[in-house]
Amino acid sequence: MIRPILKYGDRGLQQPASPVDAVTDEVRTLIDDMIQTMYAAPGVGLAAPQIGVDRRVFVIDVSVGQSVSELLALVNPQFESRDGMQLEEEGCLSLPGFSATVARPACVVVTGLDRDGQPLRIEGSDLLARALQHEMDHLDGTLFVDRLRGIKRDVIVRRIGKLRRTGKW
Ligand code: NI
Repeated sequence: MIRPILKYGDRGLQQPASPVDAVTDEVRTLIDDMIQTMYAAPGVGLAAPQIGVDRRVFVIDVSVGQSVSELLALVNPQFESRDGMQLEEEGCLSLPGFSATVARPACVVVTGLDRDGQPLRIEGSDLLARALQHEMDHLDGTLFVDRLRGIKRDVIVRRIGKLRRTGKW
């Protein structure tokens, strides 16, 4: 089932999410809904808080549906390591129409559980590293705009404020 995606300004996006106790059928249904919602958007990743669910779960597909083997679902993910630095343009389904250059580590290793509750370890570089960190941020209540400084951040926040006041957000 495709779920509505919360937008910047919704409090649900700004709070750390709760860990999953056990990977049950309910969690697998959540993951399936998140995959459908991500592909429908379409987007590279989606975290549970973006559909208003307070759980540490995200899905990523850097191929955006072009290659089944790229699809990842992670439950209770944690960083094992973060190295290097990359500067690339980044967007978010919760900030439609906005993007900015964000500094992120270039390589990450993330561990967690898969949809069957089995341990999973993902090594990512470039876009996958960026997506993993972006979705990890969502689980901690952080959006890419929160990682911007000064005028770059102010411009986006002000434009969203204007859209909201005119009922377009
Ligand atoms: Ni996002």
